[in-house]
Amino acid sequence: MSQTSNETNQSPPTGRRDFLYYATAGTGAVAVGAAVWPLIDTMNPTADVAAAGTVRLDLSGVEPGQRITVNWQGRPVFVWRRSPDAIEAARAVELDDLPDPIDFPRENPNASGEAPALDENRTADAAGEWLIVIGVCTHLGCIPLGQNGTGVGEFGGWFCPCHGSHYDTSGRIRRGPAPRNLDIPPYTLGDDLQLVIGV
Ligand code: FES
Repeated sequence: MSQTSNETNQSPPTGRRDFLYYATAGTGAVAVGAAVWPLIDTMNPTADVAAAGTVRLDLSGVEPGQRITVNWQGRPVFVWRRSPDAIEAARAVELDDLPDPIDFPRENPNASGEAPALDENRTADAAGEWLIVIGVCTHLGCIPLGQNGTGVGEFGGWFCPCHGSHYDTSGRIRRGPAPRNLDIPPYTLGDDLQLVIGV
C-alpha cells in the first residue's frame, strides 16, 4: 500500500511484471494479455479512454493471484485476483483496527451509501476473489508499489514509497500518513468476467 519526504512526486520504481492493459472505450473489449505496457505509461491514457470514460476488459485470462493494472481516465486501476490467503487476511481484520473504517459513497460508489470498510463491501464478488481499486495513494497521489507482487508493504497489499503508507490486501490504509483507504472505481463485473469500469 518508509521513505523520506524528498521523494515526493517522484515516480516509484516499477518492475517488469507491472502490466498495463489498455482497453478501448465503449464498444470494444480487449482480452487480458492482448496489450502489455509498462506501468509508467498509466498516466498517458488513450484518447478513446479519456473521451468515453469507460474501459472494458475480459478478465477470464487473469490467473489466481495475478495483479494487473488498467488505465482508466488517466489513473491506474489495480485489479487483483486474490489468493485464498489474501482473502482470508483481508476478512480477518476488525473494523476497530482500521484507521478509515467507513467508505463514503464517493470512495466506494458500488456500495449503497456509507459502508463499513469490511472486505466484503469492497470486493467485486461475494467470495472476495476480485478486488478492484484505484491505484493512487490517498495521501498525495503517488502510485503505490505491489502490483508486481513485491514491495507490498507490511500488510500484504500495497506500499506507497513516497511517505510510507501501507495498504492491506483489501486496499485499506493500515499504517502511514494516507488518510483514506484506496478508492474503488464504479464498475460492473459479470459472471462471465467482463469488467466495465466507469459505469
Ligand atoms: S503520497 Fe504520501 S504516502 Fe503515498
